[in-house]
Formats: sequence, structure tokens, C-alpha cells
Amino acid sequence: MKRILGAPRVGVGPVVLILALCVLAAAVSNKAFNASSFLPEALLARWTGPEHEGREVYDRRVQIVDAVGLAPGMTVADIGTGTGLFARLFARRVGPTGRVYATDISRWAVFKTAVLARAEHLGNVVGVVGDEDDAGLAAGSLDVAFVCDAYHHFDRPRPMLQSIYRALKPGGRVVLVDYDRVPGESEQWILDHVPARFDRPSVLKDFEEAGFRLVDEETFLDENYLLVFQRQ
Ligand SMILES: C[S@@+](CC[C@H](N)C(=O)[O-])C[C@H]1O[C@@H](n2cnc3c(N)ncnc32)[C@H](O)[C@@H]1O
Repeated sequence: MKRILGAPRVGVGPVVLILALCVLAAAVSNKAFNASSFLPEALLARWTGPEHEGREVYDRRVQIVDAVGLAPGMTVADIGTGTGLFARLFARRVGPTGRVYATDISRWAVFKTAVLARAEHLGNVVGVVGDEDDAGLAAGSLDVAFVCDAYHHFDRPRPMLQSIYRALKPGGRVVLVDYDRVPGESEQWILDHVPARFDRPSVLKDFEEAGFRLVDEETFLDENYLLVFQRQ
């Protein structure tokens, strides 16, 4: 498991890098600090770019988190965490005895999530930098794996699913939220954005072949589906 420990190895400008290091230094100290007063508004807005009204999964985030069915003490992974929108919400649900692995192939995404989580005093979020074909999580460690708006970005979905399967405890669940791509019904931008290979029937087949069983489905989303799978 590659946990994020320091500054990102990415090509950011020196000013942003220095700011980020300052924030990290404050974040790793035990002093409480408020990210919104510490960070310039413009930088914070850039960091939390996908967290905006009008994005369905943001507008319905509380219902989505309810549907994940977390309880205090659980271990959950937010795979393809982005800015950690859901990882940070999960952290509050599982509480101090639980753990949230915020994983992404982007070191920068994991770094931002770790800093934002620390700024919100969430000590139970662990950032993990994964690979294209492996979420980087220990075998049998998870009660729940959550994948939102990320599956259709996976370059190697089948090995990723196998790695998620291995990371789950027996009977563990995967909650998958993604755009429902239906030619003739979906908006054009969804048809353009989501490759045909990631339409819902193909995704269901991937999960079935990886050893998962569809056990539940929520219907409160319009543009997205929310499916719950169980590891057999
Ligand atoms: C559109 S963002 C979604 C972020 C977050 N889940 C949300 O809903 O706000 C997709 C994320 O998936 C990540 N990603 C793409 N391929 C991945 C892979 N194989 N493993 C983990 N993360 C991946 C990207 O780096 C990106 O941060």
C-alpha cells in the first residue's frame, strides 16, 4: 500500500507548491486550523472544483452516503477519491474507530484529499496512491468499497475489480455510482464523456465476471445509477 507521506511529485508552480507545503506543515501539526481561513479562497476553490451545485452526485451526496450504509467502526475505501468529497463524508459516519482509505492514481488528488481531511479534523482518513490496475489496499481489509464517477475512467477495469475483490472482507460490498449512458436517452455530454464500453450492461457484466452479485439498487438519481454489489 503506497500511502502518501509528503509533497506531490507533480509539476505544480513554485508558489502553489510552497503554499501546499505550508498547508501540509500546518495540517500535520497537532494545532487545529481552519482551511478556509488558511488557504486563499481561489486555491481552495480550485482544489474542491468538482464539489459544486448542479453536479448530481454533489447535490445528492447526503442521500448517496445514506445509501452506502456505513456504521461506526467500519473500514471503507473511496476509490478514485478525487478531492475526497465522499471520503470526508464517510469519515464522519465511521467515526474515530473506523477508517477511510482515500485512493486515487493521482498523487496530487490524494495529497489534496489528505490536506482537506486534516483541515476538517478528520484523523481517520488515510490517503493511498494506487496503480491503474490495483487500488493498493490490503487483502481482506474493507467492509465497503465505494466508486463514484471513477469506474468509467479506469484504463484497466477488470484487474482493478479483481484488486477491489481481494481488498474486501468476505461478504463485503461495493457501492458503484456512475453515469447511466443510454443512447437516445442520455444527454449528449454524457454520451460524449462516457465510453460505450462503460455502459451499464457492460459494467454489470464486469462485476459479475469478477465474482460480485448485484444485491441492491437505488433509483433516486437521474443521470447516474447507484448499484450495490456483494463479494461472493
Ligand atoms: C471524476 S473524478 C471523481 C472523483 C470523486 N470520486 C467524486 O465523485 O468527486 C475521477 C477520479 O478517478 C481517478 N482514477 C482514474 N483511474 C483510476 C484508477 N485506476 N484507480 C484509482 N483512481 C482512478 C482519477 O484520478 C480521478 O481523481
